[in-house]
This record gives sequence, structure tokens and C-alpha cells, in this order.
Amino acid sequence: MLTNIVLTGFMGTGKSVVARELSRLCGMRLVDIDREIERSQQKPIAEIFALCGEDHFRQIETAVILQYASEQGVVISTGGGAVLREENLKALQAHGIIFCLTAGSETIALRTAGNNDRPLLQGNDRQAKIAVLLTERQPFYEKAGIMINTEGKTPLEIAEEIIGKLSWTR
Ligand code: S3P
Repeated sequence: MLTNIVLTGFMGTGKSVVARELSRLCGMRLVDIDREIERSQQKPIAEIFALCGEDHFRQIETAVILQYASEQGVVISTGGGAVLREENLKALQAHGIIFCLTAGSETIALRTAGNNDRPLLQGNDRQAKIAVLLTERQPFYEKAGIMINTEGKTPLEIAEEIIGKLSWTR
């Protein structure tokens, strides 16, 4: 069986760009769960949140994760909240190795500045919002998978670090 490489971690930790590097370096197909959600709903994520609310978004997210988790030999990039549901993690862990990308709240605020696509980070004082959510979610990220600190590293360096770890986990 070909193991999947799964990336999770808070918004702005670089999952999508690192997943693209991994896909290129390993010659594995890339599945970006957020993009698949948007494709299935024919709407941007922000609109799904606005029209249907977060709970409904989480249901769609789980359905899409369950659909792709059992594929083989793919790189899967999840949204930052995928770790919140046990069933998402179980499905992803069954066929893949999960890496959780991390960064501090200042770095995340800088990386997400000027981007209005993330409904959970809208409004004033983004850094405070990030800090609160990060603290709330920390236990979920810690149990999700192998932690990879992304501070001060390029997407290529992070992808290479993950590949290095794969050689001893496989
Ligand atoms: C979310 C993260 C987003 C997206 C949605 C909710 C979260 O994905 O799934 O806005 O709850 O952390 P990214 O982590 O790719 O920004």
C-alpha cells in the first residue's frame, strides 16, 4: 500500500505551498481539501461559512476528507480545523502519515495579512484572534501528527525535512 502524506496545522503555517513542493518532489498527486470543498459546493469557503455557518462547513469538510483519505500515494493538504474532529484524523491516519506544521502567532499574522479568504480571522485584532484559536487548538494539533516548525524556513526546506522524516517512519 502506498502511504499518503497528510499536512495539517493552523491557518498560515504553509500547508498548501509545502504540499505543492512535496507533490513535486515525490511525484505524488496533490489533494487540497479546501479546494475540493469549494469545487463540490461551487462556492468559496468564505461564502459557505456566511451562508451555512461553521457547523455545516465542518460536515462538508468531513465528507470530503472521508472521500479522499482512502486514496493511495497522494499528498493531502487539509484546512486548519480538520484536526478538531476525531473521525477526520482517524480516516487520515488509516492510510497516511500526518505532519502538523507550526508557527507562532506573530508569524501567522504576518503570513495571513492582507488575505480576507479566512472567515475565522476576519475583523479587528487578527493577532489576538490567532493567539486565542491557537491556544484552543494546541492539544488537537499536538495529537494529530509529527510537529514540524516552519519558522524561518522556505517551503522547499520544510518539504525536504518532511521527506527526511518519512524515511524513518515508513
Ligand atoms: C479553517 C482553515 C481554513 C479553511 C477554513 C477554516 C480553520 O483553511 O478550511 O477557513 O478552521 O482553521 P487553511 O488552514 O488552509 O487556511
